[in-house]
This record gives sequence, C-alpha cells and structure tokens, in this order.
Amino acid sequence: MCGIVGASCTDNVLAFLLDGLKRLEYRGYDSVGIAVHQDNEIETYKQKGRVSSLSDKVGKVESTCGIGHTRWATHGEPSDINSHPHTSSKFTVVHNGIIENYRELKGELIEKGYEFVSETDTEAIAHLLSDNYDGNLASTVVKTVKRLVGSFALGIICEDFPNLIAVCKKDSPLIVGKGKKGNYIASDGPALAGYVDSVYVMQDNDMALIFPDRVEFFDENLKNLDKSFEKADLEPSQLELCGAESFMMKEIGEIPSAIINTADSLKNGGLDEVATKLVKNTSQITVIGCGTAYHAGLVGKAVIEEKCRVPVNVEIASEYRYRNPIVKNGEIVVAVSQSGETADTIAAVKLAKQKGATVITITNVKNSSITTFSDYVLYTQAGPEIAVAATKSYNSQLVVFYYLAHLIIGEQESFFEKCKDIASLSKELIDSSEKVLNVSRNLSSSKDAFFLGRGKDYCTALEGSLKLKEITYIHSEGISSGELKHGTLALIEKGMPVFAIVTQSDLVDKTMNALHEVKARGAKVILITKFERLLKEQGIDHGILIPSIEDEFAPILSIISLQLLSYYVSRAKGIDPDKPRNLAKSVTVE
Ligand code: M6R
Repeated sequence: MCGIVGASCTDNVLAFLLDGLKRLEYRGYDSVGIAVHQDNEIETYKQKGRVSSLSDKVGKVESTCGIGHTRWATHGEPSDINSHPHTSSKFTVVHNGIIENYRELKGELIEKGYEFVSETDTEAIAHLLSDNYDGNLASTVVKTVKRLVGSFALGIICEDFPNLIAVCKKDSPLIVGKGKKGNYIASDGPALAGYVDSVYVMQDNDMALIFPDRVEFFDENLKNLDKSFEKADLEPSQLELCGAESFMMKEIGEIPSAIINTADSLKNGGLDEVATKLVKNTSQITVIGCGTAYHAGLVGKAVIEEKCRVPVNVEIASEYRYRNPIVKNGEIVVAVSQSGETADTIAAVKLAKQKGATVITITNVKNSSITTFSDYVLYTQAGPEIAVAATKSYNSQLVVFYYLAHLIIGEQESFFEKCKDIASLSKELIDSSEKVLNVSRNLSSSKDAFFLGRGKDYCTALEGSLKLKEITYIHSEGISSGELKHGTLALIEKGMPVFAIVTQSDLVDKTMNALHEVKARGAKVILITKFERLLKEQGIDHGILIPSIEDEFAPILSIISLQLLSYYVSRAKGIDPDKPRNLAKSVTVE
C-alpha cells in the first residue's frame, strides 16, 4: 500500500528520499514520485514503475527538503499522471488514505476554476490547499483538513517555505523522526532506520511543521503542543538480507528466535494483573483479524477452548465490522495484526470498543495505529517482517495465543519453559529443509492443490493453502477433511496434489481415510505428519516428517514445512516470493 517519506535536513535530501522509498517497497506499490524544493521552486519527478527506474531518471538535485511517495492505485489506474506528488499552484502533496468526499470537493473546486489533471482523490487536497492559502502554512493546513472526510496522512510542501514540510494525519500512519542531520517523516518505521535517533508516532488529528532544526506540533486552534519522542529502536541491519537469498527465507530462519523473544517478552511483561483478571473471568472471547492473522485466531480458539473451556469466536475483521456484532458484557476481543495497520482490523477494533468490549491487540509493530485504539497490547517479538507472506509473525502470534490459554489456567511459567523446546524443534525442522525442497519438485506445473486437516490441523491447512496461493499463484483450498465428501471430492483429478496435515492423535484416522479417498481418485498425496509410521502407509506419494511434539503445540511446527514448501515452489516458478503480484504487506485501505 502507499508509502510516504520526507525530510528537512542539512544533507542533500535525494539520497534519503530514494533510500526511504526503497525500504517501503515491501509494502507493495505501482508508482513512485518525489518532489523537492530547488531554486525557489518545487521540482517533481514521478512515474509508474519502480523506485530504481525513478532514481535513474532523476537528474542532479541540490535540495535539503522534499517529500516522496509510493502509490498503490485506488482512485485511478497506475499511471505517471496519477502518481504522487500532486501539485496545485504553490502546493505539492503526498497522501496515504482515501478522501471519501473528494467528488464533492472536486465539484466545488472545478466550479472555482481549478483544473484537475489526474483521477486521484489526492489532487483535490492540493487544490483545496491552494484555495485556502492565506500566507501561513499551518493555518492553511488546519482549514484544509477540516474539509476532509476519510483517512489521510499528508506530507505537504509549499514554494513559499523552502525548508518546511507540513504534516497531519487521521486513520493512516505517520511517524516523525529527529536525527543528527535534520528531521524526517515516514509512513512506516523501516524508512527511518539509521536516519533518526528518536521518533514520535503521530496520533489522529496531530499536525506538525517539520523544520531542519525543530518540529513544531500544533492543534486546530494553532496552539503549540508538546510531544515526547522516544528512542528509535530499528537498526538498518534488521532490514537487510544479510546474505539470505530472500526476506521470506531469512524470516523463516528467524522463527526460532521469534518464538524465544516473544515468550521472553511475555514473561517479562505480558498482561498486567487487571487484564489477567478480566481474561480469566471472561465468558466469551472474540478474535478478529485478516488473512494469516485470522488463521492464528483459529488456532487460538482451538487451544483456548480445549484448555480453558472458554468459548471463542473467530471472525474475519472485514465481516465483523459490517455485521453489527453482539458484544456480551465482559467480552474480550483479541485483535491480531502483524502490521497493526490493517484498515479492516482497526475498524473492527473501534467498533468492538464502541460496543463495550475490552480489546487486547496482538501486533508485531510497536506503536502501530491499532495499539492506540486498544486497551492492552501484547507484542510479538518477531522483528521486522518484510516479505509479503507472513511467516515468523504467524508462529509468534501462535505463541501469544498459547500464552493466553496458559495464563487463564495459571500455567504460563511451564509454557515459557516449553517454548525453548518448541524453538529448538523449529530450528531442527528448518535445518532439514532439504527434505521439503525435494518434495516441492514437480509441483510448479500444478494448477490446483488442496490442503486437508482436522481440528488444529485444519487451521494449518488453511494457512498452508494461503501461503501457496499468494506466492506461487497456484489455486488452492484448505478444507476440513470431514468436508471432503460434501463437495470438494468432485474436483479431485489424476495427479492433483493433495496435502494432508496429520498431527492430532485422536484425528489421525479421520484424515488418513480422507487421504485414501483422494488417492483412489488419482490424487498425488503428500503427508505432513509427526507420526513416522504413517509415512509407510500405502498410497502416500511423499512425506514430510516434522519433529515429534505434543499434539497441542504441533501447529507451530507443521506450518513451517508448508511455509518452506510454498517458498521452494515459488522459486521454482521464478516468482519473487518477497513481492508477489497484486499484494501489499499492509492493507491500509478497505
Ligand atoms: O498486518 P496484518 O497481520 O493485519 O495483515 C493481515 C493480512 O493482510 C496478512 O496476514 C496477509 O494475509 C498475509 N500476506 C498472508 O501471508
């Protein structure tokens, strides 16, 4: 999704703008642009395409102040003209978010004689700034923002103020950072790593002026406000490949440390006494999330219901937010979001709060937007996840769910101990990834695949299927093996890969029977199991043996085989697993 960078500094700003935009590439984008103050004018360079081709195009830039943007098309196709920044007279703007009343604004502005050249909602903001301009940047921004309905993070420059960027935000993230060589803005922390020493995560309705030597915050009455900055904790090396062949592979390799670090941080922090009491006494938990985060919630449900006998609903956030959910007295809503910026999950959290729920958020990104709407936050300590496909964040989210389950029954200490084993078994599995590579051969020509599982293995089937489709473009479905006869069996053809996950002792026969049924119809059967004996059964074409572990913790391990498998198929098909087509890392719009 869209990304913003900007700086007012003492160095040439170009290097930061291009470097910052490059670091935001992982979010997904289709066009890119920058605008810099130069010789009393604003120079804009923008185009459809990648950051690297823009940097080839940008000539000599002598500027210490500028803004940049990566665009993910929403209003208007990806094109040079629709790329940000957008300009109107003296103003140039970059924008993340969606202006819902832009048609109304556009109509008004056209009547006043403003000419629109792009199809974007953002251009209306640029013209509105021109229309409201009174010679004072702060008051012009205040007046303009009052007219905007929707979500926005804005970086604004004006020809009359050569060292100044104005910023403001509502429902879209924006971070301000102070560094030795100036002051910086970005929509996402990684862009600032190494440039700043301290950061302030802007809150809704915050506005600020970014000078090279200071940052001035103000409110809608132009009253100056004090904001406290905290130490920036992202190291540039955390955002580099460090010799790995891709971020996804690097991140799978980091699963063992993500498990240990998440467990340690829960041990040293976790929920406070009040929250623990609320969770222990709740009669109902609802988990909300999207994609992989939703699947983590499904494992959470299985574990919490089994161990604690507390009912857990799991809902897709984009459904929850529009169905007027019933929130029971004392209900806990657990929101799960790696990025903490997913628009649907944030909206669902706001709704749950309005309806009286206590919201506990599980996220991987410190101070991300979702944290500001939540009552309590439990951080996964997976470290930055750059690849679009979630891997280590999922395993870490599972750790948090197991922690919650053990907390409710007062056995969290034994779980923290157990995490050491789980981490070392994960490492064992990752170190033997060669086995998965062998199984992955010959899968790249498949058009369809199915993943079967029962109970907790069904959750893994869903997540494994999502991994395969997003980074290999092979159509796949995760189904409960019990559902096979109710429809999907009709699709099984000769040679079609069917993966079965079998780790739950009481359900072994159920999925094995389903496997034999698909085998009888010609499927290529691939078994992922911790039971070595099953690999010898007739009809199994390939097997992946995961280390032996108690049934309840198996989902943390079994998914690793499927993450690896999708990765290898993706590579074999020549796809960049870090940046699959059409997908963005954080989905900040609906
Ligand atoms: O940042 P979030 O956890 O809120 O993101 C939710 C989904 O967009 C995300 O899990 C997505 O499904 C991943 N690309 C899956 O690998």
